Amino acid sequence: MYSTLALTLLAMPLAFAQSSTTNPPLSTLLPQIDAAPSLTPTIYDNSAPDPQRCPGYKASGLTNTSSGFTADLTIAGADCAAFGNDIADLVLEVVYQTKERLNLKVYPKYLSESNITRYTLSPDLVPQPQWDGKTSASSSDLTLKWSNDPSFQFEVSRSSDGEVLFSTYGNVMVYEDQFIEIKTSMVKNYTIYGLAENAHDFLLGDNYTQTFYAVDAGNSIDYNSYGTHPFYQETRYHNGAPTTSHGVYARNAHGQEWLLRDESVTYRTLGGSFDMYFLSGQKSDGSSSALQTITQYQTGCVGTPAMQQFWTYGFHQLRWGYQNISIMEGVVQGYKDANIPLECLWNDLDIYDNYQDFTDASLTFPAGPFRAWIESLHANNMYYVPIIDSNIYVPDPNNASDAYPPYSRGAALGTYIRDPSTGQFYIGDGWPGFSVWADWLVPTSQQWWTNETSSYHEIIPFDGIWIDLSEASSFCVGSCGNGRTTENPVHPPFTLPGDVLTFDYNYPEGFNVSNATEASLAASAASSQASAVSANPPLPAATTTTQGRTTPTPGVRNLDFPPYVINNVQAGHALVKGAIAPTATHNDPSNTTEYEMHNLFGLQISNATYNALLEIFPGRRPFTVGRSTFASSGRTTSHWGGDNTSTWGSMFLSISQAFTMMMAGIPMFGADTCGFAHNTDYELCSRWMELSAFFPFYRNHNVKAAISQEAYRWSSVAEASRRAMSVRYSLLNYMYTLFYHAHTSGDTVMRALAWEFPEDQTLAGTYAQFLLGPSLLVTPVLEPNVDYVKGVFPGIGQGTRWYDWYTLDEVTGVQPQENVTMSAPLEHINVHVRGGAILPLQEPTLTTTATRNSSYSILVALDGQGAASGDLYLDDGYSLVPNATKIVTFSYSDSCLKTSINGTYHSTPPLANITIAGVGKAPCGLSLTIAGQECEVGAVVLSHLNETVSITGLEAFTGEGAWQGEMELILQY
Ligand code: NOJ
Repeated sequence: MYSTLALTLLAMPLAFAQSSTTNPPLSTLLPQIDAAPSLTPTIYDNSAPDPQRCPGYKASGLTNTSSGFTADLTIAGADCAAFGNDIADLVLEVVYQTKERLNLKVYPKYLSESNITRYTLSPDLVPQPQWDGKTSASSSDLTLKWSNDPSFQFEVSRSSDGEVLFSTYGNVMVYEDQFIEIKTSMVKNYTIYGLAENAHDFLLGDNYTQTFYAVDAGNSIDYNSYGTHPFYQETRYHNGAPTTSHGVYARNAHGQEWLLRDESVTYRTLGGSFDMYFLSGQKSDGSSSALQTITQYQTGCVGTPAMQQFWTYGFHQLRWGYQNISIMEGVVQGYKDANIPLECLWNDLDIYDNYQDFTDASLTFPAGPFRAWIESLHANNMYYVPIIDSNIYVPDPNNASDAYPPYSRGAALGTYIRDPSTGQFYIGDGWPGFSVWADWLVPTSQQWWTNETSSYHEIIPFDGIWIDLSEASSFCVGSCGNGRTTENPVHPPFTLPGDVLTFDYNYPEGFNVSNATEASLAASAASSQASAVSANPPLPAATTTTQGRTTPTPGVRNLDFPPYVINNVQAGHALVKGAIAPTATHNDPSNTTEYEMHNLFGLQISNATYNALLEIFPGRRPFTVGRSTFASSGRTTSHWGGDNTSTWGSMFLSISQAFTMMMAGIPMFGADTCGFAHNTDYELCSRWMELSAFFPFYRNHNVKAAISQEAYRWSSVAEASRRAMSVRYSLLNYMYTLFYHAHTSGDTVMRALAWEFPEDQTLAGTYAQFLLGPSLLVTPVLEPNVDYVKGVFPGIGQGTRWYDWYTLDEVTGVQPQENVTMSAPLEHINVHVRGGAILPLQEPTLTTTATRNSSYSILVALDGQGAASGDLYLDDGYSLVPNATKIVTFSYSDSCLKTSINGTYHSTPPLANITIAGVGKAPCGLSLTIAGQECEVGAVVLSHLNETVSITGLEAFTGEGAWQGEMELILQY
């Protein structure tokens, strides 16, 4: 009954598919140009050498420093040339940088040894943690010991109890120009997390390889994906003794792999140096925790996340295939008619002329009306964000009408990455055809980028920028456009969603049960389309070859085909596939190769976009959302999970992916809600709209060739969205305050149950439930065709109390670790408030602006001692350095609620209500003092229901603003 739209589509499947093409008649880049030899990843290559047979190093010449020591490391035998040329002389540096952080660096002693290149990651690119000027071995939480027997090996332990956290004892260190390896012994069945960005179980397990090489691969389960975050956190459970935690960050941007195996982790990279940071996870009382480890990583290593503008926590709608302005107007109207909040509209490639950034599709998005439409959004407190792709189109030099000034202006500045074989710009392939990429090492690239984005803003008054394809991916192998730019614009070497015969007939798991008729229509339409494609293939098949592993050549680095083959998700696994080739060069004095820089492009373009937005909106927090990220990206960018699928599995994995992004310091994270690739259905989309309402970044997006999936398309999805959004919008201040703590102290926004309840080992792998901050437990439905959900109430039995968000009924009669069945009709998501929390709420409305202007209320959820606390951060919601801020601290004990206020920011809405859950006995009266003035309580209504006390009518005393005076409320018995 809900999916009439799907039914209509399926009734005329091929007709729709055929007519949906909007691509211009471009010449097609043949798939052969995309072919790369197929390789066997080293982890699956039985003939590959075992680097642990290398001789290792001997340490000598130890020199103590005020912060640690240095030594020489000299190769302890003949070169083994496992996957590169051995570097004989190295430097070891050990620095006790802060009480909780120990740094170990190993790098080549000589700049160049037999033509071997030394590369260490510059602090200009990625922050390099430093010594605090006071910590030494004796004051550190951590202790490093080492030995030369049989070769250099080291061990990091916790100073307080000697617990070994990282140990290379028994293993050799390998240091070659294209391969470095360190192997650490782990405890049996170890518990480690992180290594974002992985779509994988939250608990990584001990039979897993995390490959890092930035690729255009969404839904890349267990493989490499867009981002590289070489940081893991380990939890150790101790049979009843307090759980401990620590972390390891390896500051290296090369292609790399982390081999998680039984009782060991092996860290391998294709170059660079060892720059390892060991984090104690300890607090001042000596205990350690996962949350503290994550805080130490963010505050000490990569920087804390950017504070976002208040409006960015509203709901965002996007799709690839919004083909003109009137469709956009229809979407806005659709949300309005359905009474569903809508904060921000986005556009994909459809707005550009032939996919070229900064142009306008003059027939469908003519600049004048487009601008007027965006201004109408602004007038209604809504916002607008367009896509900007990372590749820049190279116009046909023989065709004056193909001129593309953004390219020419960059070319005049020498902005682009180069092809070393010709010295010319490296020309690969992107959506618009043959394209180049900015080299962010050229100092003027920032100026060029700022100029292009701000000129575009003068025409299209956007509010933020979405940076896509920042891996940086190229659709062909090598500098394929050199000498061929006269063919531009060329069509990418594959069919595009929306091309003829590319309609997507995939539906979520369970669709055949909930929509049996449509499912069978889809199956037959899919098979007709498949027959039509096979009878008349749109593109000739690519021919590929197979290539064996290359072997090290003295004095030479093979960058395109390094001897160590990472398990790259790209077909055939070669680094040259789907990305700018590793041999491409940058324009810095050392002509650094893409081999060293590849994983950093996303970080660099996000930083450049952040800087450009600061110029466009001086003093305002930039909103940039980027696809590829690296350690430290959270300081400037937000992120979405990329091209997931409209499947229940994809929705489930978005939670563990979110946890890893929280660890990585990029909390402004969300998944393409309802799924990107394939068709969604009303059931999946309802559940996903509910789930994502509790993710910081909340955006619905889908691919061009699938059915529409805005929240108003189905009555059930609309109702599910309205309900979940009403919870979210009530809590916008809670979310904002969590971000304030993330930004100022490295606190975590979405939280795993294991982080908040570290003593319960049964929660170690849980991600079917999560917490938003410390106080809200979310239990989403993650499977089709059910109206219930199972979940635990952590801490219950040990004093933790939980209250249903909607009724404020306390959860009772539940045993510790019991998997409780909760009712979950389609439009309902289970949310519980943790006892001990005080949450400041506002009346939910259709925009964040209106919500910010609505009345406040306070929800107090009492813990086992009848106490609770919380806080609220307030400012203007957009300034980088606000003129005024305010922190309201709430505390409740002995039947008395108090606020204390710090700061001068004036939020004008009044306080309307206070609700206290879990009070048990009904009070007979109350006294209320605000700003030292006793209030006439006769005007206040006090009621008691379900152990909940509700006090209403407070507007009379807070008309100047809820937080203008400190408050004391006493319940009388
Ligand atoms: C890839 C992005 O991940 C996706 O969100 C976008 O729709 C397509 N590129 C087209 O721009």
